[in-house]
Amino acid sequence: MGNQQSFLLKNKNKSKISSTKTSSTEQKCWYIEGRRYANYKNSKYFFPEDDFEIDRLQMQHYLFRHIFYGNFSAPVEDVLKKGGRILDVGCGPGTWVLENSCEFVRSEFYGIDIAPMFPSMIKPRNAHFIQANILDGLPFDNNSFDFVHLGFLSACFSEEDWTTQVIPECIRVCKPNGWIEFYEGDGAAFNGGPCYVRIVESLKQEFSAMNLNIRAAIFYKNWLLKEPTLTKVQEEVKKQSIGNCDNLAIIMEENLKILFQTLAPRIVNNLGITMNEFERMLQIIHDEYSKYGTYMNFHRVYAQKVSVSDHTC
Ligand SMILES: C[S@@+](CC[C@H](N)C(=O)[O-])C[C@H]1O[C@@H](n2cnc3c(N)ncnc32)[C@H](O)[C@@H]1O
Repeated sequence: MGNQQSFLLKNKNKSKISSTKTSSTEQKCWYIEGRRYANYKNSKYFFPEDDFEIDRLQMQHYLFRHIFYGNFSAPVEDVLKKGGRILDVGCGPGTWVLENSCEFVRSEFYGIDIAPMFPSMIKPRNAHFIQANILDGLPFDNNSFDFVHLGFLSACFSEEDWTTQVIPECIRVCKPNGWIEFYEGDGAAFNGGPCYVRIVESLKQEFSAMNLNIRAAIFYKNWLLKEPTLTKVQEEVKKQSIGNCDNLAIIMEENLKILFQTLAPRIVNNLGITMNEFERMLQIIHDEYSKYGTYMNFHRVYAQKVSVSDHTC
């Protein structure tokens, strides 16, 4: 949390920051330019948690589902139809859980998140949400889920967190022969114009300063391949254009614009520019996308947990 605190201190005269104490697992919450932020014990996650962020995450969910033609790639459809136990780690507003619990009514879906952004009252009866920090261990028994799913968590964990805690916990709670699936956008700027590259580089620095990697997606496959209890590791990579070449590219541009605006206080601070200059950069970026043919890669990686007999052989 050192970085969150130093960011706040540096900015206390520039932005409208207010701070309040809150309850339970939340250690502190504060507001910058009307956006609500909170921090939690052991958490590096620095994005706001409010209705605007919920809208951005929902848009990102639908975009991603369209890019991959579906909500998952692992061969779990039969289990979901017959009735399985499914976990979504870092579920955010719970869009993935809500959608799948409506479609696969015989399965039980669990979403966990450190922040209570998920719906607590109006939800299907087979959708369950629990506030928990995976870095403290998942609140579930060993071998209790048929499918463990996780997406867009590169801003949450260091490489050490991934390899010593997050992946081992996902494997622990997954049943033998069950599946694990991770998805994420690679934060690299492919064919980016000068303004786009400047913003992405500044975000890369923000991530690195917190021991996070904006390109975690490109490591998922190797991290899963190193796990002796996983087999059949597969990766799908989809290239998605940004700009106005098709409908998905337009939504992709809109989603990135909202992401940059969400992180604007950090970007302007990092680049030493004013908010007006930042807004101008966003306009230039719009023209850059078609001029340079900018695109992002999205990764989906999945693997099966070996059966007990395979592992002991
Ligand atoms: C970018 S959002 C992704 C949400 C969702 N998976 C999606 O694709 O829309 C990252 C989420 O991870 C949650 N998170 C961050 N650190 C966490 C932790 N240590 N344990 C559980 N959830 C965490 C955040 O609260 C946030 O909701």
